Amino acid sequence: MKRSGAWVAAVTGLLLAMLAVIAVLLFSLQPARFEWRDPGSRRLLVTAGSVTFYLMLFGLLGWRRSRRDRQRNSQAGDAVLVIHSSQTGHAEQIARQTADALQAVNVPAQLVALELLDAAMLGTARRALFIASTTGEGDPPDAALRFIRQVMMEAPELGELRYALLALGDREYSQFCAWGRRLDEWLQEQGAKPLFARIDVNNADPAALALWRSQLGVFAGHALDHWRQPEVRQWQLIERRLLNPGSAGAPCFHIALAPVSGNSGWEAGWEAGDVLALQLPGDPPVLRDYSIASLPSDGGVHLLVRQTRRADGSLGVGSSWLTQSGEIGGTLPALLRSNSSFHAPDDARPVILIGNGTGLAGLRALLKSRIASGAHDNWLIFGERNAEHDFYYREELLAWHGQGALKQLDLVFSRDGERHEYVQDRLRARAPALREWLERGAAIYVCGSAQGMATGVDDALHEILGAAGVEHLRESGRYRRDVY
Ligand SMILES: Cc1cc2nc3c(=O)[nH]c(=O)nc-3n(C[C@H](O)[C@H](O)[C@H](O)COP(=O)(O)OP(=O)(O)OC[C@H]3O[C@@H](n4cnc5c(N)ncnc54)[C@H](O)[C@@H]3O)c2cc1C
Ligand SMILES: Cc1cc2nc3c(=O)[nH]c(=O)nc-3n(C[C@H](O)[C@H](O)[C@H](O)COP(=O)(O)O)c2cc1C
Repeated sequence: MKRSGAWVAAVTGLLLAMLAVIAVLLFSLQPARFEWRDPGSRRLLVTAGSVTFYLMLFGLLGWRRSRRDRQRNSQAGDAVLVIHSSQTGHAEQIARQTADALQAVNVPAQLVALELLDAAMLGTARRALFIASTTGEGDPPDAALRFIRQVMMEAPELGELRYALLALGDREYSQFCAWGRRLDEWLQEQGAKPLFARIDVNNADPAALALWRSQLGVFAGHALDHWRQPEVRQWQLIERRLLNPGSAGAPCFHIALAPVSGNSGWEAGWEAGDVLALQLPGDPPVLRDYSIASLPSDGGVHLLVRQTRRADGSLGVGSSWLTQSGEIGGTLPALLRSNSSFHAPDDARPVILIGNGTGLAGLRALLKSRIASGAHDNWLIFGERNAEHDFYYREELLAWHGQGALKQLDLVFSRDGERHEYVQDRLRARAPALREWLERGAAIYVCGSAQGMATGVDDALHEILGAAGVEHLRESGRYRRDVY
């Protein structure tokens, strides 16, 4: 298709040249036979003229089309693809900053999620920047599965591609930046050439991020001065309520924070699924993530926070400020981070929300947003220890259930029965209903502890649906996780 315009122009040029040669031959070799007054000679001339005119018109159109194709291709080829592969939004945020900074120095940049990339798009790109996070135990983000199966398996030839890769991870995990490393190796195997060596980032290390920015400056031919920092704002603690008095587990609190807008007129905006990152004192400051449990229409950010005690008995920095030391009315800096892979579906399809403990936070925000939009096909499977002490947001959940806005509610209190039952066990027991909901197009959202709960739920799903069934859900974006 790309070359059709050029091809038409070339063929037309050839035809014109042939016609010119024939005309010259006609006139030069048989001048005596051509007579103006002879109708036959005149018809011949008119026919030759018309054919020449149409061929020229055809050629001109072909040439214009070829020029337009060339321009369009060169524009697409010139745009740098900024590709993110993210589980909880950090990579997506850095990709956005990267694309904005490049645009600011007139380097066209196109932001794209790895899961939306196909082999043809990558095969025709000439420059790409990858920002890839590792999750689980050295795993790629859930959404990357589609790319792995459809693009990596296809092994496209990438000899024309120059790329750079920023790998996000944490050295506390045994397989540091494993997904970024795997992607880097694969790109080189396909023939792509690195613009500069891969940069591995340990726990959002500012020095590594500064190196990425300066290397990109060299690549762009301009220092990237317009690096839009995430908007760190002051948030005021307006409410703290213990939700589990008498619990066998650590204290868990409902926390409400309101943005301090000051004179800037700034209004906080976020979606269900997003995260609030606290900026705690340190050099450099430390960021802490909490899943948001409310919508902007609630007037502030609600969090569900477990007071964390370390092995030496001391309280964790972030959770202790929120649950104990921070004064009501006191403020602390924090930023909102979009976590688009945990946003609600944009249609009214059924959703199955599975979580334990503070994982109810993200699920509560999703439920609120679904109910606000009139989507009532919601099923919550929530697990904690005892119904008497650990049934967070009891009245709210029961009211939604009673109104039909939460169609199915499974409460799994592991220490209430004789047999310890967890959310994954309940999922197995409800296998026929799970299949029926999935047949109706349901999406599964899992929020809460990575160890134990999320792995247990994943195992249960594999047992019920088989590996292919689970992969199909992940690939089609119908199995999403916000686990920690
Ligand atoms: C996506 C996501 C969502 C989450 N949602 C929730 C939620 O809804 N509710 C909830 O209770 N918890 C949630 N968590 C866990 C939460 O972020 C904290 O890990 C937890 O509250 C303990 O933090 P802490 O600061 O109290 O403990 P700490 O032990 O002080 O800190 C925990 C970790 O922070 C790092 N850290 C702390 N101080 C420093 C420092 N000075 N320098 C470098 N690193 C440091 C260390 O890696 C340490 O292991 C979530 C985590 C993630 C990743
Ligand atoms: C549940 C969980 C599992 C993680 N597993 C790994 C890992 O195996 N290796 C690693 O290097 N980093 C690991 N990390 C650290 C993340 O890669 C790092 O926090 C990154 O900034 C997250 O980026 P994202 O928000 O784009 O997903 C993990 C983080 C979480 C919350």
